[in-house]
Amino acid sequence: MLSVVGCGYLGTTHAACMSSLGFTVIGVDTDADKVAMLSRGELPFYEPGLDTLLAQEMKSGRLSFTTDFSAVQSADIHFVCVGTPQIKDGLAADLTYVRSAVRAISPYLKEGALVVGKSTVPVGTAQSLHEELAISAPQADLAWNPEFLREGFAVEDTLTPNRLVVGVTNDRAEEILKTVYAGIIALGTPWIRADLATAELVKVAANSFLATKISFINAMAEVCEAAGGDVTILAKAIGYDPRIGSRFLQAGIGFGGGCLPKDIRAFMARAEELGAKQALEFLREIDAINLRARQRVIDVVRSELSEDLTQYKVAVLGATFKPDSDDVRDSPALDIAAQLHAAGAHVVVHDPKGIEPARKRFPNLNFSQSVTECIKAADLILHLTEWKEYQALDPAVLGPLVKNKIIIDGRNALDRELWRNAGWKFHALGRTD
Ligand code: UGA
Repeated sequence: MLSVVGCGYLGTTHAACMSSLGFTVIGVDTDADKVAMLSRGELPFYEPGLDTLLAQEMKSGRLSFTTDFSAVQSADIHFVCVGTPQIKDGLAADLTYVRSAVRAISPYLKEGALVVGKSTVPVGTAQSLHEELAISAPQADLAWNPEFLREGFAVEDTLTPNRLVVGVTNDRAEEILKTVYAGIIALGTPWIRADLATAELVKVAANSFLATKISFINAMAEVCEAAGGDVTILAKAIGYDPRIGSRFLQAGIGFGGGCLPKDIRAFMARAEELGAKQALEFLREIDAINLRARQRVIDVVRSELSEDLTQYKVAVLGATFKPDSDDVRDSPALDIAAQLHAAGAHVVVHDPKGIEPARKRFPNLNFSQSVTECIKAADLILHLTEWKEYQALDPAVLGPLVKNKIIIDGRNALDRELWRNAGWKFHALGRTD
């Protein structure tokens, strides 16, 4: 039997996927509302395919959820999947939830139990939890097994990951994890055994590399704008080199979400604590390039409309940090919308899935459930999250609805010729033509 502690994005996905592999799984969370929803087989957030899987696994009888930590006592393996958000007054990660999760289960750990951390943590955390457990629950062991799932592809990434990484201190822990993941290993998934510190580092190194790739192409976008080039052609051309690769070279308003931004910041903070500050100084620039992309969009809005935005309506298409998700954490789209609203513009935001979470974060913003309503009489449209349905919009149909036919594509995802042929003034980041 398995337990999953923390039933957010990661935990719920992991619990449902492990149940689908045939394990009995108990999910524990302190949030009673969330547990009640999950127990009814309802997903508290949007993730394609996970709703169906959750409902199916609840019916199977193998999966259940509770707020009662003592329910983990029958489990042999405990996956810790709680969040590690950025602290309020600095760059570091807040480890409160990870530490309290391990403390909460430790009285219930049976002989030979394995606690498996999946949360993204600063290097050294696993070692300190290992030492803590050696005192509070010496009968148990601890391993670290970072998770690389992407929102929007959570089920696929969990059941068919491109690698499995386990940080362990002994062979037995590795063997236990090999048993858990036997079905996935059988698919030919690469298996990497590491020490605790390396396993923790693999995760933040991967996210730092991805963030670097995105900021690299956004830096190229800035240069293209200055030099009269086109970043989309540049990205395509360099991407054909297999050493570079074409993925994660989509220039635009940059990365957001609950992972990349906070992970690079926490990594910098940890490196500084370790005396390796200089090694990660470049991540400061990655972060700065990323935030600058948001400002560049606002600059184009001002240059198209006016320095004083109070008389203008700006329609924002997209609130989530990426499509196929309702997650608005550190969303570049929502940040831009909020900044324009704060500057006095009349901003109306549309999103296929993220309106309610966005409203919770920014109750003063205006939202609209329909694209037509959102863009009605707008002086300018901002396309900020590349939902498929925005790519299907017909600019000829939208033209008569707006006041000015001006659109800024913040994601380089719309068909520029189509919009221009319909008489629109079309801007895109990194494309000067
Ligand atoms: C990211 C990693 O991709 C996962 O491997 C990792 O497991 C996860 O964080 C995590 O740490 O849990 P995710 O946050 O779901 O996954 O989002 P990504 O698909 O990485 O996208 C992040 C941001 O980068 C989005 O805002 C997206 O719009 C932006 N992005 C992505 C670009 O601006 N350009 C690109 O070319 C690609």
